[in-house]
Amino acid sequence: MNQLKFTVDPAKCIRCGACIRDCAPAILKFGVSGFPELIEGEASSCTKCQHCLAVCPEAAVSIFGREPGASLPVERRMDSDRLLSLIAGRRSFRSYRRENLDRDILEKLLSMLAWVPTGVNSHSLDFSVVSDLSVMDEIRSYVNSRILEMMKFDPPPAAVKGLMRYRRQILEGRDVIFRGAPHMIVVSAKEDSPCPAIDPMIALSYFELYAQSLGVGTVWCGLAMGMLLLFPELRTRIGIPEGWRPGYVMLFGPTDLRYPRATQPEAARIHFVK
Ligand SMILES: Cc1cc2nc3c(=O)[nH]c(=O)nc-3n(C[C@H](O)[C@H](O)[C@H](O)COP(=O)(O)O)c2cc1C
Repeated sequence: MNQLKFTVDPAKCIRCGACIRDCAPAILKFGVSGFPELIEGEASSCTKCQHCLAVCPEAAVSIFGREPGASLPVERRMDSDRLLSLIAGRRSFRSYRRENLDRDILEKLLSMLAWVPTGVNSHSLDFSVVSDLSVMDEIRSYVNSRILEMMKFDPPPAAVKGLMRYRRQILEGRDVIFRGAPHMIVVSAKEDSPCPAIDPMIALSYFELYAQSLGVGTVWCGLAMGMLLLFPELRTRIGIPEGWRPGYVMLFGPTDLRYPRATQPEAARIHFVK
């Protein structure tokens, strides 16, 4: 047994070579037995993408001890109209019920995160999840009171200049930063990972669409991101580890708001390169 635990079931394998052709680092070959095997000395080049397991038409390939029969089956043809409806109907929600999301839905949402693509398949992401409304309330009350203090200065410190246009609403007690959301997810990337700037954005894009397909409201939150940069103690409070950089913030939770139709945006600016 090799260190990647790459195995092929000879009773199922039809020697089609799909796993060998689809291996990006090209570390598989047909062995003398006639079945695919790992090229000796190449295990360290594996990116752990599991394409060999996913592509096999006969479910004959196992790697890292994963049983191919335990994989989620993949629908051959996605209903593209429904997918477009999800994309076009996605909205930023700024109205939430003051209650925690159903536990099963939260678990479903979070378990999806294992599938998000990351550069060089590094999966060097850390997800800080505020799963309880009371914790979210503690965070929002800390931030809102700190911001109000800073706004009292004349002139206000540069850090809150951008927030001054929300001053009246903040003074009225409106939560313009966290939008009254019961939950928050912050994605951080390991600083020395291959794609620390883009991986968190991809993860949240997937999270948002999956959440909205489950009827859960979401909103990307640049203001909350700004608060994480402004108040390092907030990063400590939500447990972002040393050496990890917060990438972005998304608020989410149950909502009664519904958007029965999509918006009608200007066509995207596209040019063809000739
Ligand atoms: C990167 C990014 C940051 C955002 N930051 C905030 C924010 O801090 N507060 C907020 O209420 N909405 C925020 N939004 C939501 C946008 O304002 C929203 O996408 C826009 O108004 C269009 O609405 P739609 O998302 O429903 O199409 C953000 C969106 C993105 C993509």
